[in-house]
Amino acid sequence: GKDGYRHYMLKEIYEQPQVIGDTLNAYINPVNNYIALPDFPFDVSKATRLTIVACGTAYYAGFVAKYWFETLARIPVEVDIASEFRYREAPLPEGGVAIFISQSGETLDTLEALRYCKRQGQKILSIVNSPESTIARESDAVLYTMAGPEIGVASTKAFTTQLTTLACLAVTTGRARGAIPPERMQAIAHALREVPALAASVLAHDERLKELAQELADSRDVLYLGRGAMYPLALEGALKLKEISYIHAEGYAAGELKHGPIALIDDNVPVVVLVPSDHLFEKVVSNVQEVCARSGKVLLLADKNGIGKLGDSVRWSVELPTCDPLVAPLLYAIPVQLLAYHTAVLKGTDVDQPRNLAKSVTVE
Ligand code: M6R
Repeated sequence: GKDGYRHYMLKEIYEQPQVIGDTLNAYINPVNNYIALPDFPFDVSKATRLTIVACGTAYYAGFVAKYWFETLARIPVEVDIASEFRYREAPLPEGGVAIFISQSGETLDTLEALRYCKRQGQKILSIVNSPESTIARESDAVLYTMAGPEIGVASTKAFTTQLTTLACLAVTTGRARGAIPPERMQAIAHALREVPALAASVLAHDERLKELAQELADSRDVLYLGRGAMYPLALEGALKLKEISYIHAEGYAAGELKHGPIALIDDNVPVVVLVPSDHLFEKVVSNVQEVCARSGKVLLLADKNGIGKLGDSVRWSVELPTCDPLVAPLLYAIPVQLLAYHTAVLKGTDVDQPRNLAKSVTVE
């Protein structure tokens, strides 16, 4: 049941501290903080290239992981949506590993992309939430996300547990390749361990996000901006809003703004910007200033540092906890989910069963 929540989606958003913790417990030893995945019949750290394929929100989780694998493990990564990848006849390298991400484990395009990669001699690793699924069965190795059943059509806790699992995989791969110094390993394990508590503190902003949803509910278009691993989060935020509130939304890499989308900005368009304190902070700050200079209505999601820098220039802001940049995608996912949720409730849509959509897309 919904445990007293109005919708499954809201219940599932609130389950995230718990299920992220469950996923971490599966992959991090709580006694010595050592990150250890189950043994695979192949070595991901020896992969010549990773090919990550998925659909929708699962694809955005893979897109975040691309940044992690490249920086932490120094492995070349290709990431694509399954419906394009499966027909592209992409040449795949010898010694490559292909990673498939799916909540249901039944998405047809993802499954067919998996079969293609298998024919091309790739080792197949899948990250799946449903244990008894076709994708899990056809893979050489499986990492399970511990989200539990996800009922709402809009994916929330499946996404953050996919990110949790992928972070652990990127870190163990980087460690095996000697790409991560031991002190950094300790800091990473610690940062991951703190995510459930930090996620709970993000949920405490629910009322504020509900107020801000009123600003989005009357808009025709909403933009989401981010850079680095926050770019896929911007895409995810826009998808969430579109699918349940039916408001047109687009996610962009903030640095791409001046190559076109900045023309959309006026004082009617809310622009949600995700700005954690990472190596791209100053770059995003200038992008926010560009939007403000064109009277864009910025809703800033940032930590204390970001609010200190931009709080006075933007229309609205929500202060998220200061965190290691590695785990920022896990935490910044929550406010974009809540914004979409409350906007949809205000619009009176069927939040758990949005029109035209199915939970599991087993047809082409
Ligand atoms: O079951 P899967 O993870 O393979 O599903 C992939 C997408 O269909 C799914 O993430 C979809 O985009 C969600 N409705 C997004 O909220």
